[in-house]
Amino acid sequence: MNTTPPDACPAWAKLAAHAEGWCDTRLAALFAADPQRGAHCGAHAPGLHLDYSRQRAGALTLRLLAQLAEERGFAEWRRALFDGAPINVTENRAVRHAALRAGDAAPAEVRSALARMRALAAQLAGVRRIVHLGTGGSDLGARLLMDAFRGRARIDVRFAANIDPLDLSRALEDAEPDSTLVVAVSKTFTTAETLANARAARAWLNGRGRMVAVTANEAAARAFGIDEVLPMWDWVGGRFSVWSPASFSALAALGADTFDAFLAGARDMDRHFLDAPLEKNVPVLLALLGVWNVNFLGAATHCVLPYAHALQLLPAYLQQLEMESNGKRVDREGRELGYATAPVVWGAAGTVSQHSFHQLLHQGTPQVACDFIVAGVSAELDANAEAQARALAFGTGDPALPAYRRYPGNRPSSTLRLEWLDARHLGGLLAAYEHKVFTQGVLWNVNSFDQWGVELGKQLAGEILKNQGRA
Ligand code: F6P
Repeated sequence: MNTTPPDACPAWAKLAAHAEGWCDTRLAALFAADPQRGAHCGAHAPGLHLDYSRQRAGALTLRLLAQLAEERGFAEWRRALFDGAPINVTENRAVRHAALRAGDAAPAEVRSALARMRALAAQLAGVRRIVHLGTGGSDLGARLLMDAFRGRARIDVRFAANIDPLDLSRALEDAEPDSTLVVAVSKTFTTAETLANARAARAWLNGRGRMVAVTANEAAARAFGIDEVLPMWDWVGGRFSVWSPASFSALAALGADTFDAFLAGARDMDRHFLDAPLEKNVPVLLALLGVWNVNFLGAATHCVLPYAHALQLLPAYLQQLEMESNGKRVDREGRELGYATAPVVWGAAGTVSQHSFHQLLHQGTPQVACDFIVAGVSAELDANAEAQARALAFGTGDPALPAYRRYPGNRPSSTLRLEWLDARHLGGLLAAYEHKVFTQGVLWNVNSFDQWGVELGKQLAGEILKNQGRA
């Protein structure tokens, strides 16, 4: 497996030289020279179309980026991912989240966990409220799924992630212990926030209602007093666990068929990621263009703009997925990096975002690369997304306008168009971003599957509380 520094690859130097030619290249000029650019610069995956014509990149750029991926040994790394190899070396763990959605090809333990989730969901007569406790990957995925499809929910699901007791008290508002199911999700069952909320919820239930745990640490959940335990596995990173029992609350509320469709969409994307040539491979293209923007065009932030209110939590989900995975400063060999890795990921639902921070996107000084996500929810939403992407790309060249009214344009964006907004398409979209993150980890030579950067703060908080006699 190639763990050499990417900036020592011949393609890296070629890309750096190639980037200089892009300083003075205008997107408007590219479209004028090639009115079919929108049709050329695209790729299809199941249920999803990527249009990258408004990226500051051309055919040669993509060839060089694909060459970089090849020089990084991308095909071998991808094979290792799908073979479940122990590529999370700092934790000596396999990485097998794709096995969670492999359908009939999934490992027996996964199929049996799915069957148990279904069976448990079928036994919730009388449950009117599910209170889902968990944080990070044990929260964001299930929360996104529920928020996206909450109109179809047959049970009211509320979430509490914060150690601030207000979060749990809001999640319990108007609930009755007898008709409440508390689902405590923690892969480790050691996370302070989740345990504090689980203790408080247990006290609130006061022996009534029910509690279920989802964890890879069954002994700790049982010692806590929870008998119904759904599994997690150490080969699934929290931020890759939306396909697992960590989403039991969503499965219970939305129905097992919806969850199956979600898994099927991801499975289709896995196939595409494995089979499509690099220059037509949507997750790979997202990764390559991301590296191009970050490392060669100097974009330090990446803005995610879902033009579908159902996907309003997508930016928060992707923040953890991208920044906890690739926000790294040393490579797989422990060498300090001389190049940038994950950009700051941010965003909000369009059109709300337009009345908040788009001023900076259009006329601010930072370089921001945007992903517009459109799903045909309404003509107004799609028109606004298109208008924003055009304004960013082409601006206004009118010299008659005063400076403060001019838009410089030439600001890069991609548009991801979902054929439809349902669980299957959301599954495909999230899997595409997962594979983007994996591919960027290969390109940057970082371990995308550990998160040591979160440990020091946890330890210091514990010490501070101990010194105050509170722990
Ligand atoms: O502290 C970071 C983190 O470990 C995330 O990676 C994880 O998703 C979250 O905490 C929750 O962890 P757990 O599921 O073990 O409670």
